Amino acid sequence: MELSRSAAWSALVFHKQEVDKKTIRDMFACESDRFVRFSVKWKEMLLDYSKNRITSRTMELLLELAHSAGVDEKRQQMFQGEPINFTEKRSVLHTALRRPSGYVLDVDGLNIADEIADVLLQMKNFCEEIISGKWKGYTGKSITDVVNIGIGGSDLGPYMVTEALKPFAHGGLEVHFVSNIDGSHIRETLKRLDPQTTLFIIASKTFTTQETLTNALTAREWFLAQAVEEEYIKKHFAAVSTNQEKVVEFGIDDANMFRFWDWVGGRYSLWSSIGLSIALYLGFNRFEELLAGAHAMDEHFLNEPFSQNMPVILALLGIWYRNFFDAASHAVIPYDQYLHRFPAYLQQLDMESNGKRVDENGHTVNHATGPVIWGEPGTNAQHAFFQLLHQGPDLIPADFIVPLKSQNPSGEHHDMLLANCFAQTEALMKGKTEQEVRAELSDAGYDEADMHKLLKHKVFSGNRPTNTILVQELNPFMLGSLIAMYEHKVFVQGVIWRINSFDQWGVELGKQLARTILPEIQSEEAITAHDASTNALINMARTFREENIRKASAQLSFF
Ligand code: F6P
Repeated sequence: MELSRSAAWSALVFHKQEVDKKTIRDMFACESDRFVRFSVKWKEMLLDYSKNRITSRTMELLLELAHSAGVDEKRQQMFQGEPINFTEKRSVLHTALRRPSGYVLDVDGLNIADEIADVLLQMKNFCEEIISGKWKGYTGKSITDVVNIGIGGSDLGPYMVTEALKPFAHGGLEVHFVSNIDGSHIRETLKRLDPQTTLFIIASKTFTTQETLTNALTAREWFLAQAVEEEYIKKHFAAVSTNQEKVVEFGIDDANMFRFWDWVGGRYSLWSSIGLSIALYLGFNRFEELLAGAHAMDEHFLNEPFSQNMPVILALLGIWYRNFFDAASHAVIPYDQYLHRFPAYLQQLDMESNGKRVDENGHTVNHATGPVIWGEPGTNAQHAFFQLLHQGPDLIPADFIVPLKSQNPSGEHHDMLLANCFAQTEALMKGKTEQEVRAELSDAGYDEADMHKLLKHKVFSGNRPTNTILVQELNPFMLGSLIAMYEHKVFVQGVIWRINSFDQWGVELGKQLARTILPEIQSEEAITAHDASTNALINMARTFREENIRKASAQLSFF
C-alpha cells in the first residue's frame, strides 16, 4: 500500500486541519508545561522542540507513523549488519566504527570488530610518529603540514570536524583540505607549503574519483619537482581507501595505506580511517573522544523509546513539515563560528542520502522525500537570509545549534551570541501582529495615513517552527554525538519514506558525461554531438583554449 494511503498518514492529514487552527504562540499561551513536554535532555545536550506546530496528539500520530513504518526493525537490521543498502547489497555499519571493541560482528566471514581495531591501532601509531616528530621527511625534517586530498565524504566530514574542533588541536600540525578539481584549490594550498615538511593523505573510498586522483597527481608532481627521487614518496604520501589495488597502482607504499570497508558509506566515513586527518590534527585521544560521543548517541538511538529519542523526534518533525506542510527546504543555523562547515557537511549527509524517489520494490513514491538543506552560522545568517525566513511566503523549518560555553570568552560576545539565537527563534515563533505594529507606530508618532502604508510590511506572521539544540560545550564528544544524531535522523526519514538512504546513483550521470566532454573540450574539431546549448558551451571553451595555446606559442617564438 502506498505510504500516503496508510492509516497513520491519513490520520496526520486529517489532524493537520486541527493544528492549523492554532498558532504556536497560542499554544504557548495556554500550555504552561509546553517546554517540559516538548524537550529532551540527554547528557550535556538539550533538544527543545516546543516551538513547533505540534500538539501532543501530533506527536502521538507521528510516533505511530514511525512504528508502523518499521523503524524499529530497520534500526536493528542496520546495527546487526544486514544488507539494508539494497541496491548495492551492502551492510551499513558506520555505527560499528565507533563501538568499543570486544564484540563479534561477522560480515563476509570476518569479525569486523577485529578489523576495525587493527586499523585504529595503525592510525594511532602513525599519529604518534607524525605528531611526536619521529617521522622524518626526505630531508630529515619533521612533518608540519598535512594535506587531505579527497572530495564528498572523503573531505566534508574531516574538514568540518577539524574546523569545529580547532580549539582542541594539539597545535603541532596544520591541516589543509583540497577537494575541488579547479586547479586553483590545490595551487593556492601548495603555495603555502614546503615539500620537505608536508604529508599528503589521499582519501578516496574507491580510489577512482577523478578530482581526487588528479589533485593527487598534481601534488605528486609538485613534490617530485623538489624531492626528485620517487623513493621519497613513501615519506610524504599516505592513502585511505577500500581499494588496495588502485592505491598500489598509484605508487603509494602499502605500509602507508589505511583501509576501510565497503559497508562504510562515503558520507558516513569520518569515523573510519577517512578520519586520519582529524586524528593527526587533534591527536588520537581526541579522535577517540569523537568516536565515543557518536557511540553514546548510537546507544541513545537504540535504546530510548521513540518519544524520548532525539534522532527519531527530529526525523518526525522533518517529515511533518516536508510531507504535510509542503516545506521544501530545511535550514540549519549553528550559532558557533567553529561550525561554519556544518551545514555543508549536512547537505551531503542528508541530500545524498534522501534525495531519492524510488522505493525498494522499484516503485516511484508519491510523497515528497528529502528537503533542501542549507544554512550558515548565526549571527551572519541573520544579516543575509533571515528576512526570507521571517517574512517570505514559504514555510522553512530551522534547527538552531548553540553551545553555552564559548571557547574564546571575550567581553559580552558570547552573551550576545546567545541572546541573538534565542531572540530569533522567539521572533520566528511569535511574529508581530498588526495590533502590535500599530501600537509601535503610533508610539513613534506616525499619523494614520503613513501607518496604513507601512502596517502590512511590518507585520510578521510568526508561527515558523524551529528546534533549538543546546550543548554545554562543543567538545569532541559532543560533536560526535551531534553528528551521529543527524545521521540517525536521516536514517529514520529514509525508512519512513521507503527509500534507500545509502546509495547515490544520482551522482553518476554527470560524472559519465564529464568523461565524454573532457576530450571534446581538448579536441580541434567543432563539437556537434550534443544539444545546441551543450555544443555551444563546449565549442566556446574549445575556441578559447585553442586561442590561448596559439597566443602562448606566438609569445614563445617571439622570444
Ligand atoms: O560522487 C559522490 C561520491 O561518490 C560520494 O558519495 C563520495 O563521498 C564521494 O563521491 C567521494 O568518493 P571517493 O571517496 O570514492 O573518492
